Amino acid sequence: MRTDSKNKPTGQTWQAVALTLFPEMFPGSLGQSLAGQALQKAKWALQTVDIRGFAQDKHRTVDDSPCGGGAGMVMRADVLDLAIQDTQHSTGGLPLVYMTPRGRPLTQSRVKELAEGPGVAVLCGRYEGVDQRVLEAHNVEEISIGDYVLSGGEVAALVLFDACVRLLPGVMGSNASGDEESFEGGLLEYPLYTRPVEWQGRTVPDVLRSGHHGNIRAWRREQAEAITRERRPDLWKAYEDKRAAKNDKN
Ligand code: ADE
Repeated sequence: MRTDSKNKPTGQTWQAVALTLFPEMFPGSLGQSLAGQALQKAKWALQTVDIRGFAQDKHRTVDDSPCGGGAGMVMRADVLDLAIQDTQHSTGGLPLVYMTPRGRPLTQSRVKELAEGPGVAVLCGRYEGVDQRVLEAHNVEEISIGDYVLSGGEVAALVLFDACVRLLPGVMGSNASGDEESFEGGLLEYPLYTRPVEWQGRTVPDVLRSGHHGNIRAWRREQAEAITRERRPDLWKAYEDKRAAKNDKN
C-alpha cells in the first residue's frame, strides 16, 4: 500500500504497465531482490499488455514497412491505438511513456514525479519504431535511457520501473532516504568504503575513520564535487549555476 508524506496509506498501489510484444520479458530482473519482494507484497503491481493481442488480421500483424522506404518495419498506429485505449480504460489513465533513444533523457527528477503518481504505462518499441501518429494522438511522452540503441524498449522500461519502484514507500527501507545518493543536490555520489581498513595495500581514507562528522561531511562534498566536475560537465554547470543563483539571492 502506498503512503503519503506523513506515512498515511493512500489506498492505491503504484502501477507499472508494459505494452509489449514480449510480455515474458517482465518482471525480469524486477522479480528479484527488493523490487521482487515488494511486488510479492503488492507494494507495487505489474501488468503486461500483449500488443499482438490487438492485431486485426488472421496473421496477427503488428507492423508494416516504413512509408517513404527504408530499412526494417514500423509498428502500426491502429494496433497500438487499440492496445493503448484498452490499457488507459483498464488502469484509469496512467501517464503514458514511449521508450526511445529519440526521447528526452530520463532524469531522477522525472523518476520522482512518476513514483509520486499513480504509476506509469510504458509503450515498448520494437523494429525501427512506432508510427508517429499514435504518439501524437495520445500525447505520449518520449523518454531515452541513454545515447545508445537497444534492441527494443523492454529493457528500458525495466530501467524506468526499477528507478521508480525503489522510491516507493517501504520498498527500500531506510536505504531509500536517498539524500546522499547520486543526483541528490545535483552531484554524483562520493566514493564509498567498508572493512577491511587495509586491502591489497590500499587503505580507507583517514578522515572516514576519524569519527569527526563535520570533516567527513566536508570530505564527501569535496569528493562529490570533484567527481561531478570531471565526469559530468553538464551536471557541474547546472550545479554551479544553481549555487551562483542562491548566492545572488543572499
Ligand atoms: N529503445 C532502444 N534504445 C533505447 C534507449 N536508449 N532508451 C530508451 N528506449 C530505447
